[in-house]
Parts: sequence; C-alpha cells; structure tokens
Amino acid sequence: MARGVDPAVEKDIPGLLSEDGTWVSRRLFFDPDLYEIEKHRVFGRSWLMVGHDTQIPNPGDFFLSFMGEESVIVVRDNEGKIRVHLNSCPHRGMPVCREDRGHARTFFCVYHGWNFGRDGALVGIPNQRATYPRDFDKSNLGLFAVPRVETYHGLIFANHDAEAISLEDSLGDMKWYLDTSLGRREGGIEVLGVQKWRVGTNWKVPAENMVGDVAHAPATHSSVFQIVPGDPSFDLALKSVLEYGRNVALPGGHGGTFRVYPKDDSDGRLPGEAVMRATPGVGEYFESVQAEAEERLGEVRKHVKIATCMTFPNLCLLGSNFTFRVAHPRGPMKSEIWSWVFVDRDAPQTVKDTLRKFYTLTFGPGGIFEQDDGENWEGVTYGSSGVEASTHPFHYGAGLDAGPHPELPGTVSSVYSEHTQRNMYRRWHDLMLQP
Ligand code: FES
Ligand SMILES: [Fe+2]
Repeated sequence: MARGVDPAVEKDIPGLLSEDGTWVSRRLFFDPDLYEIEKHRVFGRSWLMVGHDTQIPNPGDFFLSFMGEESVIVVRDNEGKIRVHLNSCPHRGMPVCREDRGHARTFFCVYHGWNFGRDGALVGIPNQRATYPRDFDKSNLGLFAVPRVETYHGLIFANHDAEAISLEDSLGDMKWYLDTSLGRREGGIEVLGVQKWRVGTNWKVPAENMVGDVAHAPATHSSVFQIVPGDPSFDLALKSVLEYGRNVALPGGHGGTFRVYPKDDSDGRLPGEAVMRATPGVGEYFESVQAEAEERLGEVRKHVKIATCMTFPNLCLLGSNFTFRVAHPRGPMKSEIWSWVFVDRDAPQTVKDTLRKFYTLTFGPGGIFEQDDGENWEGVTYGSSGVEASTHPFHYGAGLDAGPHPELPGTVSSVYSEHTQRNMYRRWHDLMLQP
C-alpha cells in the first residue's frame, strides 16, 4: 500500500516516458519522490532475487539479504523449506538477526528477549507468565513472513505480493536463456560467495547496462583492451560479442545480449572465454561435460551463450564471467551491489578456483571491467541530476527495427539496439502507473 504519494508527483508519472519508450525522463535516475514510490510499486510487487539455496544447505542455516532497502532473513526451516522473514521484531521493530550469515536454532531479539523459531513463530517471551494472561495467544506475533518464496536453478526469489503470478510465469522466456548458464548440468550450480560494494548510482543504471548494452564496451573498456596487448583473448571475446551478439527484449521487462554462434563454431559452444579454458584442467572439464550440457539444452541453445542479461527489476548475470548480481537500492542515487560467483556444483576444485579468479579479475569489486562500469554509472547518475540537465530526457531510439527471430524467443535486434532498455523502462512505467 503506497504511503502518502504526493498528487503532483503522481500526476507526473504518465509523462516520464514517451509512449514507445524512446524518450525517458532523467528524473528516473535521481528523483527522491519517484524513488519512494518505486519502493512500493516496483520493489513491493516484483520477484526479487535474494540469494542461492546452496548458501543454506542445512536446516537452521541462514543469511541476511535485502528486498529493496529492507533487511530480510533467508533461512532453511526444520522441514528444509526456505523461508524469508522481515528482519524486524514484531514487538518494537528491532532487527532480530545481526549476523550476515550463520546457523541458528532460534532468532533472539536483544531488546526485550522475544525469541523466534526458524519458521518465524514466536516461541518465547521472557516473564510471559507474569506479564500476559495464561491463555495468551502468541500465534499472530511471529516474524512477518514474505508471502511468496520460489526458486529457479536454486536462485531464491521472494515477492511481497501474495497475489503475484508464479516466479516461473514471471520469468517466462527468460528461463530459456538463463538455462544456458545455470542449467548445463544435472547437479546444478553452487555459489562461491557474495561480495558487496556501494556505487553512487541509481539502481536502474546498472540494470540497463546489463539488459543489452555491450555497445559501450569498445569505448568504456578500451584501456582494458590496451593493457593486455600480449593476450588477445579479451579482444577475441569483444569481437565475438559484437559479431554474434543479439539484443533480446522479453515480456516482463527482462532482456539481454546473447551470443548466438554459427553452428560450425566448435569453440563458441563451450562456456566461458578461451583465456579461462586455457588453464590446465578447465578446458578439459568443459569438454568432458559438453555432451551432457548439449543434451539438456538442445539444438539451438547449445550455440547460445549469455553475454549480459537482466531479469527485471535488478538481477543481472554475466555468462562468461560466471557471476550474477543485484543492485540493491540505497537511495535515489546510491546502490549496493551484491555479486555472486557461480560454478557447476560437480566441477573439480581447480575449475572452481579458476572461475573465481577470472571473475575477480574482470567483474569483482576491483575488476578491470567493473571499475570502468562503476565510473560510468556514477557519472550518469550525477550527470542527470543538474537543475538544467535534468529537464532534458534521454533518447533510447536505437534499434527501432527489432523484431521476431526464427530461433530465439523475444524481440531481437543487433547489439547496438536500445529496444531492450525501452522494454525495461516500459515495464517500470507500467508498474509505476498502478497505484
Ligand atoms: S523489540 Fe524485540 S523483543 Fe522488544
Ligand atoms: Fe561494461
């Protein structure tokens, strides 16, 4: 339920986007009033990725995460079910969990000592007999449960909207693409950890960067391509993204850049980049499990690799870097990036180690690409917010010829198209227009 939306701001919402999404107001990227409305209309009713189920393998395992700006406890209960509770004591709101992750029998509130089970039930009140009637009913004083929790390839999503469509329906054709990274093996994936850092940017800027904007790479990341002149692998990776990449917009605001290799390109069908596969044991591992992956993915998808993609509103995945991330909003001009490395659960340790190092080199918090991107995102956010500059909308008009593709789901165009951003902002706009 939206709280106190200023009627003047409400009146502005329809005009923030042109009808075809080609013009987008800069207010989306800094306006505190719009940001407050987003908390309810976007983050209050979307499926939000909070973590991966391999982070909590056993009953009692938990970690803290965020839905929008709100802290939530993600915990496996005694029956093995994953639950998501608001990290806010029902008594006076004190966070009942103050560890990032761990294992707990119960969650104990340090203020007055109320104690909650893994399922969120209130199991203890100090001096209960002295302070409440004998038949006092504690059953409606448990931790507030986020009503919908569902998983896909172990990714845990939660939704505050009890009436929301299922996660699978919400992902729709995005599943077809996500499988190419996350569903290659029967044993699934595991995550090797989460890294967190803050960037002075609105959360939508990293999202639009991943929903289909590899066209920025030659300019933004030119220094990367210059500092590794002895190693052509990054050049080759860029060339293949620009040559084989397709920008794809999907219902629900999702989208990405996907590399679609020619059927006779035997190298392109293997995951990751050549430089990573050159490490002893890594290329051999990917070769050894390729038959299984191709069996699971089928004829078309065995030639498709994710470059970058974004599942609305803010789950981004970089396929060849084996990482997914969320830009948690921290105010209209600040985001907290949470970034996970993923690997096939049944891969040898040497492969897991190599993938983690490659992620760290490229898109970890100090990654040679990540540093460039973060600078852009801050620049876009601050460059949008000037008194005069903010009055001029952004143009997202590239790729007006996007259309259907014989093999790929969604609306498809070249990597230079901005139709994926138009699609993302139209979804945002649809949600913002619903009180
Ligand atoms: S605030 Fe938690 S027990 Fe009072
Ligand atoms: Fe980039």
